[in-house]
Amino acid sequence: MITGKTKVVGIFGDPIEHTLSPLMHNAAFKELGLDYCYVPFLVKKQELKEAVEAIRALNIKGVNITVPHKEAVINCLDEISEEAKYIGAVNTILNEQGKLKGFNTDAYGFVKSLKEDNISLKDKFILLLGAGGAAKAVAYGVLKEGANLFIFNRTPSKAYKIKESFSDIGKIEVIEQIKPEIMGKIHIVINATSLGLKKDDPMPLDPSVLKKGQTYIDLIYTKTPLLKEAKNRGCTIIDGIGMLLWQAAKAFEIWTSIPAPVEVMEEVLKKIKD
Ligand code: ATR
Repeated sequence: MITGKTKVVGIFGDPIEHTLSPLMHNAAFKELGLDYCYVPFLVKKQELKEAVEAIRALNIKGVNITVPHKEAVINCLDEISEEAKYIGAVNTILNEQGKLKGFNTDAYGFVKSLKEDNISLKDKFILLLGAGGAAKAVAYGVLKEGANLFIFNRTPSKAYKIKESFSDIGKIEVIEQIKPEIMGKIHIVINATSLGLKKDDPMPLDPSVLKKGQTYIDLIYTKTPLLKEAKNRGCTIIDGIGMLLWQAAKAFEIWTSIPAPVEVMEEVLKKIKD
């Protein structure tokens, strides 16, 4: 029940109607009997600044930030975490008595979801496909865990930029072609491009290079053609649901200072997936 005391949190994005975050967070609040309510807000690019100011004006406790605002929102905040600064993107804001603090829980969400699947990143050779916002969070997370990272992107200059910003935290190389010599030593392939979101998208890499025993991870929530192909070839596959869950759990904890009821949130996602 919403009362005068209910604390409001939410998500800013455009488009926003497909977001699964309200379902996850509201189920979590209900489970713990917390007087919070999570609301989706359609925020246009040109109105981001006003929307962020409204967090203060309306005493909203915090928000998630999604496409296309994760990078632009940085300039509207009072403080940002070390991690968010490195990644260059904020996906969670906390309103602490009028001070707006930005965090990035995507890198944590990615790494934590792999840990839950008992996949260790330390000293592994990883091929990251893509160099957009999502790829940056993944690159940060895996480098911090001690992996050796190779990045391939359609536009190589964006991959070189990631290498430049992250080379002080780990081993990172840009590759302009996916050659068999490199594929031979790769343990984990991560798709952080948007290829696989639309029905007729081509695969982000030529399926003939897939090797049995490799692990394929897609940040997209569904079983993409890449994951299906990888499964057929005897590879381990992981979709983006785990990262979605754990980034949300961390955001929940930033707002409430209470551990998130992860099983309940996972149950919500499983129901949608089925
Ligand atoms: P997100 O926030 O989801 O990471 P983004 O920052 O727009 O979104 O990044 C999208 C990624 O998908 C980029 O790596 C992009 O490659 P470019 O940097 O060359 O644009 C990649 N991508 C999108 N469409 C693609 C396509 N048709 N072929 C190959 N890569 C594509």
